[in-house]
Amino acid sequence: MAARFWIFCGVGIILGALIVQVQCNEESQLISNLFKNYNKNIRPVVRPEDKVEVQIKLTLTNLISLNEKEETLTTNVWIEIQWEDLRLAWNSSDNYGIEVIRVPYNTVWLPDIVLENNIDGKFDVAYYANVLISSSGWMYWLPPAIYRSTCAIEITYFPFDYQNCTLAFRSQTYSANEVDLTLAVDEKGVTIEWVDIDPAAFTENGEWAIVHRPARKMINTRYSPDDLEYQEIIFNVIIQRKPLFYIINIILPCSLISSLVVLAYFLPAQAGGQKLTVAISVLLAQTVFLFLIAQKVPETSLSVPLIGKYLIFVMCVTTLIATNQIVVLNFSLRSPSTHIMSHTIKHVSTSRAIQSNLSFQELLHLNLLVFDHHQRCLHLSLVMMCSRSNCPCLLFSVDSIDVSSTANLYKSLAQAAPEIKQCVDACNFIADSTRQQNNIGSEIESWVLIGKMIDKVCFWAAILLFIIGTVGIFLTGHFNQVPEFPFPGQNKKYAPS
Ligand SMILES: *[C@@H]1O[C@H](CO)[C@@H](O)[C@H](O)[C@H]1NC(C)=O
Ligand SMILES: *[C@@H]1O[C@H](CO)[C@@H](O)[C@H](O)[C@H]1NC(C)=O
Repeated sequence: MAARFWIFCGVGIILGALIVQVQCNEESQLISNLFKNYNKNIRPVVRPEDKVEVQIKLTLTNLISLNEKEETLTTNVWIEIQWEDLRLAWNSSDNYGIEVIRVPYNTVWLPDIVLENNIDGKFDVAYYANVLISSSGWMYWLPPAIYRSTCAIEITYFPFDYQNCTLAFRSQTYSANEVDLTLAVDEKGVTIEWVDIDPAAFTENGEWAIVHRPARKMINTRYSPDDLEYQEIIFNVIIQRKPLFYIINIILPCSLISSLVVLAYFLPAQAGGQKLTVAISVLLAQTVFLFLIAQKVPETSLSVPLIGKYLIFVMCVTTLIATNQIVVLNFSLRSPSTHIMSHTIKHVSTSRAIQSNLSFQELLHLNLLVFDHHQRCLHLSLVMMCSRSNCPCLLFSVDSIDVSSTANLYKSLAQAAPEIKQCVDACNFIADSTRQQNNIGSEIESWVLIGKMIDKVCFWAAILLFIIGTVGIFLTGHFNQVPEFPFPGQNKKYAPS
């Protein structure tokens, strides 16, 4: 019996010592004192009409991405929320000098701040960090969050665009009469009217450069202070795209392949359909680029992106050139048997020929040579026929035809009729047909020349159109810069000085 009593006593003493030890932890004593009559569902105010001032600050650690197609901005932020809860204040000198305690988020009153324009149903933070309570009752909560928010994409100048994205925060349950949302104030008493960026923690985005990041408290006067929509804290992130990626991957290849189309003018008319094939191939390649862009930008009919405009422009130029090639081919491959060359065209073509590299004199010389050649041939055939029929004209040397010998020739020809007459007729026929062929050849050549002329004029026109269009379109993109101030009409930077 006595032994059992002593065992009980021993266990009791050990347990008592343990309890004393636990109670001796100053912090737990303080917390249990603080939370003795604490109800986390009650707003930390003395009178019902008092407002709780809640300070908000946003620290951007990473701009993860902007999805143009889905019009969403994904950011990694720390949202700093501070307020005062006088029920949780203590006298630190009475409590072993404890200045700060940390308690789980679900043990204290929270102002219920949410991201209003989220897109994935995640209104709150990613990790519920502890709340820091200082001895004055000042509450400090800094949970990290990955927010996916809506961001209306303005694609008019894509890929030389800048975007204006918004993160809007408000209390989901407390109206402006209960909770007063304000921007945080730094140590010097300056209101932090910007999204904070800690250079050490911030990771630069490869595609976007942050230009402005103002923060404002907005009062929507359309609502009464009893409505939840009445007050909001708005953070704007105005970002400019770094266009190098699109220049290297789309604009440059597209311009290069499009510039090939003007080379179609250098192909000779003999290449025929090949001239057209060049234009059609380029048109196909451009369609592929258009397809690539369509996959990137949102499916909106409100505006056409700059690069889309450029592609449509080069496609129009290519189609124009293809049409032009058909016209040129139509002219180049004409012949006297299918088309009659009008006098004006003939005149223009000859006068052009004088100015062109192949000068008229050269042309004339060439024709004369051919003609000369034919005449010699005529003489030769005459001599050959005469020799076959053993006529006296064999006596005359062909090379030394002069007036007297020609008269003699005619005389002897008359004597030798009618065989010689036949011979002369045959000779005349050969001469006629040769002259005719000569004429046909020169007219075909004229048509080719006209084709060349059109080619040359259109080549310069196309090059000019192409260069002016390309430069013009991309210059408008170059001048699309973010305004100096985040809000037009307000000469205020909203940035740390
Ligand atoms: C805290 O307690 C000390 C000692 O009990 C007292 O002197 C001091 O005035 C108290 N401070 C406040 C703010 O009540
Ligand atoms: C950005 O959007 C806000 C509205 O959220 C607007 O007031 C502001 O003028 C815009 N800034 C620019 C530079 O477009």
